[in-house]
Amino acid sequence: MNKRYLLTSALPYANGFIHLGHVAGAYLPADIYARYLRLRGERVLYVCGSDEHGVAITIKAEQEGITPKENIDRYHTDNATAFAGLGMSFDVYGRTSADEHHQVAQEWFLEFHKQNILIEKEEDQFYDEDAQMFLPDRYVEGICPNCNYDRARGDQCDNCGAYYNQLELKNPISLVSKKTPVVKKTTHWYYPLGAFQEKLEAYIESHAGDWKDNVLQQSRSWLKQGLGDRAITRDLSWGVNVPLPHAKGKVLYVWFDAVLGYISATKIWAQERGTPDAWKEWWLTNQDDTTTDYYAFIGKDNIVFHTLMFPSMLMARGGYVVPANVPANEFLNLEGQKFSKSRNWSIDLRDALQDFPNHVDSLRYAMAMNFPETRDSDFTWKDFQARNNNELAAILGNYVNRTATFLAKSFDNAVPVLPERFAKLDDAWKLLVEDFARDTTLTAEQAVERYSATHLRYFTHNDIAVIASVFFGAIEVQVNYNKFRFRDALTSTMNIARSANKYFNDSAPWKSLKADPDECAKTMYICAQLLPMLATVFAPITPTVAKNIFAFVGLPEHSVGTSQHGVAGVNYFATLALPHLAQSAPLGTATILFTKIEDEDIEAQIAKLGDKGQPIQPETPTAKTEQAPKESSAPEGVMDIITIDDFMKVKLRTALVLSAERVPKSDKLLRLTVQTEGGERNIFAGIAKYYTPEEMVGKMVVIVWNLAPRKMMGSESQGMVLAVNAPDGTLSLVTPEKSGMPAGGEVR
Ligand code: MF3
Ligand code: ZN
Repeated sequence: MNKRYLLTSALPYANGFIHLGHVAGAYLPADIYARYLRLRGERVLYVCGSDEHGVAITIKAEQEGITPKENIDRYHTDNATAFAGLGMSFDVYGRTSADEHHQVAQEWFLEFHKQNILIEKEEDQFYDEDAQMFLPDRYVEGICPNCNYDRARGDQCDNCGAYYNQLELKNPISLVSKKTPVVKKTTHWYYPLGAFQEKLEAYIESHAGDWKDNVLQQSRSWLKQGLGDRAITRDLSWGVNVPLPHAKGKVLYVWFDAVLGYISATKIWAQERGTPDAWKEWWLTNQDDTTTDYYAFIGKDNIVFHTLMFPSMLMARGGYVVPANVPANEFLNLEGQKFSKSRNWSIDLRDALQDFPNHVDSLRYAMAMNFPETRDSDFTWKDFQARNNNELAAILGNYVNRTATFLAKSFDNAVPVLPERFAKLDDAWKLLVEDFARDTTLTAEQAVERYSATHLRYFTHNDIAVIASVFFGAIEVQVNYNKFRFRDALTSTMNIARSANKYFNDSAPWKSLKADPDECAKTMYICAQLLPMLATVFAPITPTVAKNIFAFVGLPEHSVGTSQHGVAGVNYFATLALPHLAQSAPLGTATILFTKIEDEDIEAQIAKLGDKGQPIQPETPTAKTEQAPKESSAPEGVMDIITIDDFMKVKLRTALVLSAERVPKSDKLLRLTVQTEGGERNIFAGIAKYYTPEEMVGKMVVIVWNLAPRKMMGSESQGMVLAVNAPDGTLSLVTPEKSGMPAGGEVR
């Protein structure tokens, strides 16, 4: 069966600049994968675009005093430009404000409506009379019905973790007008996700062997809780209008329309190339004798939308492909901390490209080496510098450079002509590779051992070793890409460059030039042949450098190693390891592929991070999902100056923890009994994620001693325990530095 490959990357909100965290999550992996597949000679369509609806976009526009349209136009263009600068090879970069998209989204809604799938319900909801809008969960705050925490969000409490209906919030406040909202009836349409429970379970389990653990786990945990009806409309003015006569003022929920953006973008692509029906080949099944493998690249906060919601929609429509894989990445951190635009702890892609215009490939490489594939990972500027200087420049750049220099100086800047003695080298090379292809599960070392004696007539041990490194290394690269293990694929790729360098060193052509000119010519012939091989394996990661190498050797890109030619029945890598350059073919002018990145440039970047004098902008809430990372809606970093008298009002005292226990139904809280001035007290502390009850007993902590008691979890919390909250979310208790301090001692 023939295959084609449809790739999508999560459509980024056109609401802010793309930062490197986004790039590492859903974009660069997909681009590398798309380039890898194209290199293999596969048919690929890679689709992305801007997600331009949702409350967050309206609010952000309001804050900036512009219209939502002006807001999205700006970010859509900027992000598309930044992506292009990074070399993202989308076939189409659409946008959900396009007419075509509105039509597609409405058509899907109407089709479900016609099939009687949707459920219409009237419900109470908070309404802000000043702003004249219904309040989505993120725009109301109040007192938690469970623990009485006073900054609980519309549908979830950050203190105790409870979920509830927003109407259960006590003392609700609209974050738009800061006033108390009223309760009003409103009609919405619900998508019966629960009706797909069994089908989705079967779908997820059918991928138990090939999907990533994080993706399976999150999907299963949703399925285990049981899927219910999901509202797919909202009372908002910005978005795709609900195409029903009695739905004025209502738009489709951003997530319902956004996933359809993949399809509408494909339609736009098809129209633009004058084949309007071509989108069907990619999205519909049974169009011809070719099946589509659809891979949806996303970050971990989008998982269930791509493993449950969107697949159920595709199944309900029928005849559509569903994702064959959803290779979701975890999050990338920056210098050990979470990305946060409000704390200025972030690198926008466009800034990185502007500051390092000659190191775009290095940025791709350094990011890919740190992809958060199985757990959150870290990008640091020093690592970026080291990856460029010590790997790309010192290994790949160095090899290309020393080979080009040697060929220019001693071989008239051309591929060496093979001396009489080695005239049949290409044939021998082919036989060697055919031997390697007999068992592709061997390691390069095993293969060299097994076959070198047979091929010693033309090849030295070093010659055989380097050809084996390319052949088997490239298979490793392929195996890793096929499993979406990018970091391993890159490591294998760099190892091929390492063996090329080693080959140059071990063969010492500068010695044989005088001592054995025939041998030298052969060595340099092999060295030249390695150039397009390296360009090919590096092309998905460092496309510009690959292009330069191809230009230098005078070969078109993608001419090396596709499955069409070469050793039968293996894979494209079999041909990769064969010679492609003709004897005496002229070479171009070598350019320096990677310049060094200096310490000052790195230090300047590090110095820019954090709130060093920059004005602090409040974070705009994004229209995120239920499991999106929680952010406080309070502007961060605003400093209230207090007087010494204010401070003296706060009485801090030490307290000895006598006993500690977990609080049922809360994964955050520990209930502590402490000894302090005035006797024993009961205190709830939100430290359960960082301290076990056992390790708390016997600790001397610091508490706010004169805090008004608060009712929590059905009893009273009499004080508050002090702890350091690190920006990465970890927490550390404040304790006296010397042991033997008394319980109840004053802290000033
Ligand atoms: N805009 C969403 C985000 O950035 C992702 C949307 S993905 C799509 O989290 F599938 F809905 F397009
Ligand atoms: Zn709570």
